[in-house]
Amino acid sequence: MQIHATIRSLRSALQERIALVPTMGNLHEGHIALMKQAGELADKVVATIFVNRLQFRPTDDFEKYPRTFEADCEKLEAAGVAHLFAPDEAEMYPTPQQYHVEPPPAQAGILDGEFRPGHFRGVATVVLKLFNIVSPQVALFGKKDYQQLMVIRNMVREFNLAIEIVAGETVRAADGLALSSRNGYLSQAERAEAPYLKRLLDGVRREFLAGERDFARLEDQAMSELRARGWIPNYVAVRKKIDLQLPTAHDSELVVLGAALLGSTRLIDNLEV
Ligand code: PAF
Repeated sequence: MQIHATIRSLRSALQERIALVPTMGNLHEGHIALMKQAGELADKVVATIFVNRLQFRPTDDFEKYPRTFEADCEKLEAAGVAHLFAPDEAEMYPTPQQYHVEPPPAQAGILDGEFRPGHFRGVATVVLKLFNIVSPQVALFGKKDYQQLMVIRNMVREFNLAIEIVAGETVRAADGLALSSRNGYLSQAERAEAPYLKRLLDGVRREFLAGERDFARLEDQAMSELRARGWIPNYVAVRKKIDLQLPTAHDSELVVLGAALLGSTRLIDNLEV
């Protein structure tokens, strides 16, 4: 029996704090690190696995997105996750979704949003639904998807949702490659080349720290270097952390982001400055 001498202690004991970690499955160490972080912040962790059609374009890889449900369940059990919500499409979208969260183009139409139109609308819509279904006090998202994290933070703030958004650090392989479900699409040769993206972003970061403030030059040079090694870059960008808008020479809270195709696999990464 717990004995409570204060109202605060009684109330907090009666309120179970729930942490939500939304995923699309195909779980790797990055997801598991988020689950463990969630376990430190709450009494119960609720994970979700739902491959959300709304955030894929017709030309994207929705059908071929890896589905590894059994292996995912084993990993979640081992990480101490209490509940897994794994709905099918009929459960999440019993009728076609007609109401959507439309993040502002200045935040969702840039960087990844420029190359994946409608992506963040689909993400924000499903995340709001998951928030309403699970009613968590805290929700965790990885920094690897930096723009997604920013869009969700702003959605929560502007809709006054009583949910704390916590960011998880990007988990990397020993050679620096950020863990991602999409890494599984890489051929052996592509996998060997893939860590170059992080090294490149690191180079941009170092130049910035050494005093370079010509962001356009830094970005152009990095894109050329990617092209020279056979990548098809979407963008390399130095942006403000807070809203991913263009920095001035005086801003210091920055992040270097990059996205590029290696063969047919689109990799993204970022490094905070
Ligand atoms: O980051 C993801 O896996 C997805 O975008 C999310 C947040 C689970 C929404 O479908």
